[in-house]
Amino acid sequence: MKLAVVGGGSTYTPELIDGFARLRDELPVTEVALIDPNPSRLDLVAGVSRRMLEHAGHPAKVVATASLEEGVAGASAVLIQLRVGGQAARDVDETLPLRCGCVGQETTGAGGLAKALRTVPLVLDIAETVRRAAPEAWIVDFTNPVGIVTRALLDAGHRAIGLCNVAIGFQRRFAAALGVEPSRVTLGHVGLNHLTWERAVYLDGEDVLPAALASEHGDEIAAALGLRVELLRRLGVIPSYYLRYYYAHDAVVREQLEKPSRAAEVAAMEEELLRLYADPAVVTKPDLLSQRGGAFYSEAAVALISSLLGDRGDTQVVNVRNGGTLPFLDDDAVIEVPAAITASGAAPLPVAPVEPLFRGLIAHVSAYEELALRAALHGGADRVRDALLAHPLVGQDAVTEELTGLLLEANRGFLPWT
Ligand code: G6P
Ligand code: MN
Repeated sequence: MKLAVVGGGSTYTPELIDGFARLRDELPVTEVALIDPNPSRLDLVAGVSRRMLEHAGHPAKVVATASLEEGVAGASAVLIQLRVGGQAARDVDETLPLRCGCVGQETTGAGGLAKALRTVPLVLDIAETVRRAAPEAWIVDFTNPVGIVTRALLDAGHRAIGLCNVAIGFQRRFAAALGVEPSRVTLGHVGLNHLTWERAVYLDGEDVLPAALASEHGDEIAAALGLRVELLRRLGVIPSYYLRYYYAHDAVVREQLEKPSRAAEVAAMEEELLRLYADPAVVTKPDLLSQRGGAFYSEAAVALISSLLGDRGDTQVVNVRNGGTLPFLDDDAVIEVPAAITASGAAPLPVAPVEPLFRGLIAHVSAYEELALRAALHGGADRVRDALLAHPLVGQDAVTEELTGLLLEANRGFLPWT
């Protein structure tokens, strides 16, 4: 089986290769095509990927290419994991909103909108090539903002599923805290990408979330999220760490003003990672990679692709068309929920009625996502204004006005319509 990775020169790729090597029984990969426009990065990442597979005794060959057409041809699945403008553009997403008192984050708020504007047209272009060169392939999108990008892909009729590591990361860590195999833990996960809550955590089918929240484990989870345990206990849920940008917005802004951006931190890590990838003695995934946010993303990818191709029908958390699952959203909205994964795709499982405390925010952000997609597809400063005004973390006219100008100016080179 051939897999193609668009953005294969990413420093994250060895995470993926490590997953292919460890989980070879689940997914018999014979060829990995790494596609990237940056030849020097691609060369380093392909090199370490080959060494890792060889070291693990894995027979798959690694092909490195700048040609999208050639890379995706004959692939069973195409993973898209690119970042337009790299960490430099991310740095702008994370710092520019701070000038207006808004949180600086690459997937949430104004930064997330800028990223959507830069990313959607490129991913749609790539998907057209996939449609031509590998019409049977599944597109697995890791590219942020995953909810908006997935909606764009589905609206254009592609065989696409959006994937994020937040749910699997939570499930793996929760299972480790309980001292059980991850397969015994399932999630009552609901919301939109990077806007989700665990309303239940089942161990062998029994909800253990109330007991966990009441115990010391609740304190640990709250501390890791940077939220008060009393909040989690009162709501009876565990929010994803992206909810901190909402529930502790002003505190996050104060923190962000005091320290370097995540993009700056990651840029330094990437330099070190590339140095390691260049070292012929490095034949396994470097520990440094575990300091990145993408832990377990390879396991999510392997599980999803193996269920799609193997028609397994198991349950995984993915980004999928709503289709009435959350009745308070448009059918066309993209949501992040547990779904049954078969050869025909991901079918969301029924979700218990969502309490107004979560429903309101989900609906608010989903409407923003619709407007953000419109702005990304059709351009125009007024569409950008609409999306910012509709975002719960922006929302004020004066701020919208200022951010629209700043954001368009900073992203000029990336937006075909400016
Ligand atoms: C998590 C999110 C990803 C995001 C990543 C950033 O994994 O789910 O969507 O891209 O964090 O990690 P980084 O190490 O680049 O900050
Ligand atoms: Mn994510």
